[in-house]
Amino acid sequence: MTAVGDIRGTTTDRRAVISLLRRLRSGEGQANPLPIWEELRSLGDVVRAPWGGYFVTGFDACSQVLRGRTWLVPDFAWQERQPDMERWQAPATQEMTRTLPRLNAPTHTCQRRALGNPFDRATLQAMRPRVAALASGLLDDLEDRLRADGEADFVHTVAEQLPMHTVGDWLGIAPEHFAHILDFTHRQVYAQELLPTKSELAVSAQATLEMRAFFTELIGQRRARPGNDVLTGWIHHWDARYPDDRATADQVIYDLTMFITIASLETTAVLLANAVWFLTQEPSRAAWLRRHPEHIDDAIEETLRYDPPVHVNSRIAADDTVLAGVPIAKDTTVHVLYGSAAHDPRRNEQPHVFDIRRNGSHLTFGGGAHYCLGAALARLEARELLGQVLERFPTLRPVAPPEYDTSRVVFRRIASLKVTT
Ligand code: HEM
Repeated sequence: MTAVGDIRGTTTDRRAVISLLRRLRSGEGQANPLPIWEELRSLGDVVRAPWGGYFVTGFDACSQVLRGRTWLVPDFAWQERQPDMERWQAPATQEMTRTLPRLNAPTHTCQRRALGNPFDRATLQAMRPRVAALASGLLDDLEDRLRADGEADFVHTVAEQLPMHTVGDWLGIAPEHFAHILDFTHRQVYAQELLPTKSELAVSAQATLEMRAFFTELIGQRRARPGNDVLTGWIHHWDARYPDDRATADQVIYDLTMFITIASLETTAVLLANAVWFLTQEPSRAAWLRRHPEHIDDAIEETLRYDPPVHVNSRIAADDTVLAGVPIAKDTTVHVLYGSAAHDPRRNEQPHVFDIRRNGSHLTFGGGAHYCLGAALARLEARELLGQVLERFPTLRPVAPPEYDTSRVVFRRIASLKVTT
C-alpha cells in the first residue's frame, strides 16, 4: 500500500472533468491552462478520468507516483492487454513501445545503464562553446529577419532550431535533414496524445514511416563510415552486446537514436519560447535579469515550473494500491499532471505568480527511474540562449501572445511567437 500523507482524493462528476479537458485543449486553455488545473485540483488529488483511470493533480501525489515502486510505465505487455486495439496496435503507437519511457525493469535498467549520463558535467562543458556558437548563429538569423521585416517568428527562427542543431550536431546528423526531422516529429507526436483520433493516428503512422526510414538510413551510413561520435559509440556498444544478433543490436540503436532525438526537440523548443515570452511580456523582468545575469538559471527553473512543456505523463498501478485515499486497482492508468502539480499552492506559494527568485519545486523532468535523460542539456541550451538574447536584444518584445497547437494536451507546442525590437 502507498503512504497517503495529507493529500486527499475524491470521486467526481464525470461531466465536469470532460468539460475541463475540452477547455484544456481549446485555444483559451492552451494559452492559459492555470485556471483549469486549479479547477481540476479542487476536485481532488486523484480525479477519475472520463474514460477510466485517474488524473493525479496535487504535487505530492504526482511525485509519489513518479518515484514510487508501485507504479510502472505502460509497456508492451500492458498494451497487449488493452481492449482498444485500434489505438494500441496503431503503427505509431507500436513504434514507441521499445523506447525508454515505455520500458520497465530489467530492460529499462539495462538500457539506462548502457547510456550512463550522456550529459555529465564534463560533456556539457565540452558542448558549451558549440551550443553558444549555434545560439549566436541563430540569433544572427533573427537579427537579419528583424532588420528586413520589422518582426520575426522566434519559434521558427530560433526556439525550434537550437534543439535541432544541438542534438543534430551531437549525433552527427547533417543540417540538410533538420527541417524534415522537425516536421515528422511534430506529426508523430499525435499518437502519444491521451485520446488520439483515427485521423491523428493516420498522420502519425505516415510520420512514423518517414522517421523509421530516416534513422535506419542514418545508422546504416554510420556503420559504413564510423566516426568519433555518440552514435558510433552506441553502435560499438550494442554490437558487442549482441555479437550474433545484428537485428537486435540495430533495433536497440534505432530506438535510442530515434527517441532521444525526438524527445529533445519540441520539449526544449517550448522551454526556450516560454522563457522569452515570460521575460519579454513584462519588460521590467527582462531588464532586471539583464542586470542580474546570475539569476538566469533561476529564470529557467521558474519557466520550467510555470509552464511545463509536457503536460501529462502516464503510469500503471503494478498492484492494487491506494493513492491519496483512493483505492486503485492493478493495471489502472493514472495520468500525472505536471502543470497542476507545479501550481499546487501546498507546494509553491502564490503559484500563479511568475517569480524568478522563488526557488520553487517542479516535476517538469519527471522523476524516479525515468527522470529525463536530457534535462541538463535542455538547461544548457536555455542558459546559453537567454544570456545572448538579453545582451543582444535589450528591447525585444512580443508582437502578440504565442500561438499554440490546439490539438495537443500531452505535449505542448508553441507554434509561433512573433517578436519585434
Ligand atoms: C525542456 C526540455 C525537456 C523536458 C521538459 C523534458 C521532459 C521529460 C519528461 C517529463 C520525461 C518523462 C520522465 C518520467 O517519466 O518520469 C522525459 C524523459 C526523457 N527525456 Fe526529456 N525533456 C526535455 C528535454 C530532453 C532532451 C534535450 C533530451 C535528450 C537529448 C531528452 C531525452 C529524454 C529521454 C531519453 C527520456 C526517457 C527517459 C526514460 O524513460 O528513462 N529530454 N523528458
